[in-house]
Amino acid sequence: MKILVTGGCGFIGSHFLRYMMDTYTNDSFICLDALTYAGNKNNIADFLHGSRLTMVEGNVRDADFVDDLFTTYTPDIVVHFAAETHVDRSITGPQVFLETNVIGTGILLDACLRHGIERFHHVSTDEVYGTLPLQGGSLFTEQSPLKPTSPYAASKASSDLLVLSYYKTYGLPVTISRCSNNYGTHQYPEKLIPLMIQKALQEEALPVYGDGLNVRDWIHVVDHCRAIDVILQKGKVGEVYNIGAREEISNIDLVKRMLNVLGKPHELITYVPDRLGHDLRYAIDSSKLEILGWKREYTVDKALEEVVEWYRENIR
Ligand SMILES: NC(=O)c1ccc[n+]([C@@H]2O[C@H](COP(=O)([O-])OP(=O)(O)OC[C@H]3O[C@@H](n4cnc5c(N)ncnc54)[C@H](O)[C@@H]3O)[C@@H](O)[C@H]2O)c1
Repeated sequence: MKILVTGGCGFIGSHFLRYMMDTYTNDSFICLDALTYAGNKNNIADFLHGSRLTMVEGNVRDADFVDDLFTTYTPDIVVHFAAETHVDRSITGPQVFLETNVIGTGILLDACLRHGIERFHHVSTDEVYGTLPLQGGSLFTEQSPLKPTSPYAASKASSDLLVLSYYKTYGLPVTISRCSNNYGTHQYPEKLIPLMIQKALQEEALPVYGDGLNVRDWIHVVDHCRAIDVILQKGKVGEVYNIGAREEISNIDLVKRMLNVLGKPHELITYVPDRLGHDLRYAIDSSKLEILGWKREYTVDKALEEVVEWYRENIR
C-alpha cells in the first residue's frame, strides 16, 4: 500500500507518519509538504531515511505539480492534513486560508478522481461546529449544524462540504474526521501549549485571552493518529467521524497546570483583550468512532509532564 500524507512536516501529520511507519512496516509513504512557516523537515528527520518514506516539497495549490505527483507515485490512499491552521492568522489574513484549505483540497480531490484512489481521508476540526454554551454539558455530534465562526473554521467547513460533494457526485471514496484540540510534541510555537511554555521558560508574561475561561476538549496527538488509522481500516466511505477525548479544560486551568510542571509562578499570567469571535466551548461526542473500537489511551494528567519536558528540551 502507498499512502500519500499531505502536511506531513507539520505537527499532527509528522506524528501520523511516525505512527503509521511504525505500525505498517510493509507500506510506503509519500510526504507532500510546502514547508510553510509551520512545516519543519526536522519533525520527520528521525525516520526520513531508507526507501519507505519519500519527501516531496510542493504546494497543494499547484494543480500541475499535484497531478505529476500522482502520476509518479501512484498513491492508493491520501490522508490530507495540509492546511493553514492558526485561527489568529486567519483573522488578520484570511485569503491564504481559502486558497490552501479550500482550493488546495479541491485540487487534491480532482487528482484523486483522475488517478483513482482507494480512499481520500480529510482531516478536519471540531471548530466547524462553532461554539457551545459554557454550561449545560452539550456535545458536538456529527449531526450538529456547521456554524464556523473564524475564517479558519469557515475554510475547513467549506473543504468538508467539498469533500462530501465528491462522494455524492462522483462516488469518490472519502472519509472525514473532525478532531478537538491536540496536544503533543513538535507543535509550532504559536499555538497555546508551546507558546506558553516558551514564554514561561523566558520568564515573560503569558498572554491569556479574555478571562481564560474558554473551554477546549484536549486530545493527545497520538490518540488522534490512532483514530484516523481506525477510520481508514473500519470507517464507512461518505461518513464523518468526530474525534475527542472527553477532557474539557479551560485555557486558564491548562496554563496553570503547565506553569506547575515548569515550576514557574502563576503571576506570569497576563490577561489580554479577547480574540475576535472567540468560541466559548468545544466538546466532542465521539461515540460513533468508539463503536469502531477506538478509545483514547492518554490523559492530560498523565501526559502533560512529558510534553512540557519535551518543549523544555527542544524549544528555541
Ligand atoms: N492542531 C490541532 O489541534 C488540530 C485539531 C483538529 C484538526 N486539525 C487539522 O489537522 C491538520 C494538521 O494540523 P496541524 O496542527 O498539524 O497543522 P500545522 O500548521 O502544524 O501543519 C500544517 C502543515 O501543512 C503544510 N502546508 C500548509 N500549506 C500547504 C500547502 N499549500 N501545500 C502543502 N503543504 C502545506 C505546512 O507546511 C505544515 O507542514 C489541519 O488540517 C488542521 O485543520 C488540527
